[in-house]
Amino acid sequence: MKRAFVVGFPVSHSRSPLIHNFWLNKYEIEGEYFAKAVEPDRINKFINSFEVEGFCGGNVTIPYKEIAFEQCDEVTEAARKTRAVNTLWLDGGRRLGDNTDIEGFLANLDSEAPGWGENCERAAVIGAGGASRAVIAALAKRGVPEITIVNRSVERMAHLAEEISGWGFQKIQPRRLEAGHTSFDEANLLVNTTSLGMVGQPPLEISLERLSADAIVYDIVYAPLETDLLREARGRGLRIVGGLGMLLHQAAPAFERWFGMRPEVTPDLRGLVEQDLLRPKA
Ligand code: ATR
Repeated sequence: MKRAFVVGFPVSHSRSPLIHNFWLNKYEIEGEYFAKAVEPDRINKFINSFEVEGFCGGNVTIPYKEIAFEQCDEVTEAARKTRAVNTLWLDGGRRLGDNTDIEGFLANLDSEAPGWGENCERAAVIGAGGASRAVIAALAKRGVPEITIVNRSVERMAHLAEEISGWGFQKIQPRRLEAGHTSFDEANLLVNTTSLGMVGQPPLEISLERLSADAIVYDIVYAPLETDLLREARGRGLRIVGGLGMLLHQAAPAFERWFGMRPEVTPDLRGLVEQDLLRPKA
């Protein structure tokens, strides 16, 4: 029987066990998927010897994605670009790592806003952390020509702009996030990669006024299922994409690595996770 994990600290909030165990059941695969809370002083050892505990691989969540990246013998291009690993597996004696967030971000966008890339001249990305790097790598992969990076810390934003300068964009524009009045000149796609607007976090206060009329607004936050940002965008008649689909779609390629088949993201899976998100978690 194959066993996989999601490791984090804490990890009780993770919906990954729900998703992967749903697929194991659905496809009648003999396997198990567990949440493992591992304390910071034991994480290196765990990543380097998870097979001793009977695991063939697993997911890595906050705050260990960068540590996992450093511990791998080999990583995919997605992991190298983001310097983060969310999926681990073994190949012979080697420890391999991927970052499926890029694929998850794109699969969700393709599914919720088909044809989005046809006229996407400019994307505005809010945030300059790890999630932002994954989103920008995804947009580079699809050849979006112009990127505006919007962030509170000017230093971090400038650093990211420098880092992505070789990724093939025609234009990279850093913009300071200013509460209440940051606007997004004619962007066709706006993505929030920060935790602002998440349950228990401060709101994201921006203006959608100057977005292009055919713009798509994508929030990677999935709790609440519809953030204030998405509600406002919907009210303005813009197309919206929520973060839950990204969570589901990033899980599929990881499942395939360990259990050998590509599972489907279906409405019944989405419904199950939505129900769980509506239940308060301990
Ligand atoms: P992740 O890996 O999830 O992207 P991160 O690397 O810690 O997390 O990045 C968090 C992002 O959210 C950053 O862009 C951060 O802005 P700063 O670079 O200015 O810190 C942004 N963020 C978090 N809390 C914020 C807040 N209260 N106001 C504005 N931006 C915030």
